[in-house]
Amino acid sequence: MPSKDLSSIGVPTLERTHLERASEHIELAIDDAMASLPKAEHLSAHDRRGIIARYTAVLEGNFIYWMTATYLSVSSAEAQEIIKDNLLEEVRDNHPGMLRRFAVAAGGNSTDVDRMAIHQDLQAVRAFVARLATLQLILMMAFFEGFIQRFMPYLADLAARQGSRETEYTDVHSVVDIAHTQGLLTAFATELELQKDPVSSPTLYEGVEVLRSLIKTIIRP
Ligand SMILES: [Fe+2]
Repeated sequence: MPSKDLSSIGVPTLERTHLERASEHIELAIDDAMASLPKAEHLSAHDRRGIIARYTAVLEGNFIYWMTATYLSVSSAEAQEIIKDNLLEEVRDNHPGMLRRFAVAAGGNSTDVDRMAIHQDLQAVRAFVARLATLQLILMMAFFEGFIQRFMPYLADLAARQGSRETEYTDVHSVVDIAHTQGLLTAFATELELQKDPVSSPTLYEGVEVLRSLIKTIIRP
C-alpha cells in the first residue's frame, strides 16, 4: 500500500492545519523533554541506574500494549496497516527482550522503589489509554516514538557509564523510531479525515501531556 505523503493534496485545509500543528506540538514537547535532561556527567551511578530502571519499568511491559490499544482505536485500513507493521516489528524483533538485556547489562533492573516512583504517572497514562481516544492516542504514541528516538544516545551514554557494552536496544531504536513517528502522523491524518465532528485542538494533546508527565518522573522521580 502506498504511504501517504504528509503534504498530500487530498487533505482538506483544516485537517492539514491540525496535522501541521500536531507535528509542531510533538516536536516542541520532545525538545522540551530533551532540554530537561540532567547532564550525564553530573549524575551519580545511583542516579544513572535509576533512570535506566524507571525507563525499563515503563517501556518493557507497556509499549506494545499501548501500541495495541492504538491499533484497536483506529478505523481506517491505512492507519491499521501502519500500526500493525509497527507492532509486528516490536514482536518479531523481540524489543521487550532487547530492552531487558540492555537493563540487566547496565545494572538497571527495576526494584519496588523504582516501580513505586513511577506508579502514579504510569496509572494516569493507563487510564488515558483505556479511553481508546483515537486521535489523542495516535499523537501520544507519535510523541513517544519521537522521544524514544531522540533519547537513545543519552540512554546509551548512561549505560556505558554504568560499564555496559550492550547497545543493541539503543542502536535499533535510534533508527527505527524516526520512521515510526512519521507513520503515526500519517495514521493521524488518515483518521482525521474520518472525523464527522470538528476536532478541538486543546483536547488533542491530552495523551501527549499525560505521557510527558510520566517521562518527567522517569528522569526526576
Ligand atoms: Fe521497540
